[in-house]
Amino acid sequence: MGRLIYQIYPRSFADSNGDGVGDLRGLASKLDHLEWLGIDAIWSSPTFPSPNVDWGYDVSNYRDVHPELGTLDDLDTLIADARTRNIDVWLDLVPNHTSDKHDWFSDRPEYYVWSTDIPNDWKSGFSGGTAWEYDARRKRYYLHQFAVEQPDLDWWNLDVRAEFEQILRFWFDRGVAGFRIDVAHALIKDRELRDGERYQRERPEVHDIFRAWQAVAHEYDPKPTLMGETYVPLAHLPPYYAHLDLAQNFAFTNAEFELDDLRPIVERTLKTLPAGATPLWFGSNHDHSRLATRWAFGDEARARAALFLILTLPGDAILFQGDEIALEDGKVPKDRITDIGDPPRDPERTPLPWTRSGDEWQEPWLPLGSTKRNVEDQRADPDSTLHYVRDLIAQRKQFSDDSYETLKSVSGVWAYRRGDKTCLLNMTDDVAGHEGRTLQPWQGLIL
Ligand code: GLC
Ligand code: CA
Repeated sequence: MGRLIYQIYPRSFADSNGDGVGDLRGLASKLDHLEWLGIDAIWSSPTFPSPNVDWGYDVSNYRDVHPELGTLDDLDTLIADARTRNIDVWLDLVPNHTSDKHDWFSDRPEYYVWSTDIPNDWKSGFSGGTAWEYDARRKRYYLHQFAVEQPDLDWWNLDVRAEFEQILRFWFDRGVAGFRIDVAHALIKDRELRDGERYQRERPEVHDIFRAWQAVAHEYDPKPTLMGETYVPLAHLPPYYAHLDLAQNFAFTNAEFELDDLRPIVERTLKTLPAGATPLWFGSNHDHSRLATRWAFGDEARARAALFLILTLPGDAILFQGDEIALEDGKVPKDRITDIGDPPRDPERTPLPWTRSGDEWQEPWLPLGSTKRNVEDQRADPDSTLHYVRDLIAQRKQFSDDSYETLKSVSGVWAYRRGDKTCLLNMTDDVAGHEGRTLQPWQGLIL
């Protein structure tokens, strides 16, 4: 109940060898700190070999580690070291597409989606133009929902399904305790390639794939966790819980940090998820401006309010690396932009500042943002956001159950019953009173 999942963007977490790119040994060297923080699981963004057109989300080999990040041995060591601290390691599986440099793209063309002409109006997520690219060698068009270098796999092909079931076993055998599933809502497309977005994504057949994966997961004890990147409207989220353990709730993440916007989303989520489903809350990830910037506009009190909410709602929560110190997006000058996305996602991917000097990052791959908020200073200060988050992580374990009930409150204050406790959150810039208690602007209280 109430797991805390900590998302790591490995290139920007910790660098062990001074080449400016974070790596697995760097990550392993921070496990003591993550244990101190109280996390239950690490989800790392992709660790596989990749030409890095989309920074690891274009995989060229699903059974190895990117040399810049380390070796398979390093990953095994990380998993074992994390285990001794009761921390699970989850990887990021990218099954919608491969890199065009994956062997399959030349050796197993039947694994991909082809057409002799452009068959429909489907769009590519990155260019906004057609999702079909002509391949001179095959004299046909292939589908790419993302970059041209990321051809989509054909999930109607049973061999593709068998490959991925083997890939899951490969990692579960090594002790990987879960996967975040990239683009989980759009793996399988309409077999007839009909026009329209509703044929390009959210096809009901995707649940058959997850049913099979869940069966693979059930071969292991403890059963690994399957978490979907389910980028769908809230009303479409519940079916994903049929075979996934966790379905990411982007309606929550994409809301404004305003009581009148967020509270109805939370209430609706809790009302509509199937019985027994674990809700999942987060405010930042590697694709979204960080919560300290996007929700809090840099204001630390307001960032703490967002963290309070994420950490006191029922279910599991994800913190993106840096959320725990209210880290803001980095400023990345135009000539340092590396991302193919528009707008570029580099600002939320800048290195995590461990110290005020920032000397732990030598010529990092993305510029280091402000080090005003850094881990070292905040660990030394019991009043810091880092300690605030650590205390909340400890307190969330104390809720007696996963129940939630909105309580009556004055305007601007979110009051809710959580198990045997009451949570109060002042979502305004003004001092507020609730049943004789005074709440400072953006203050949260657990009673
Ligand atoms: C997911 C990832 C994103 C990536 C895209 C294509 O949305 O989170 O970073 O660019 O898939 O793989
Ligand atoms: Ca390195």
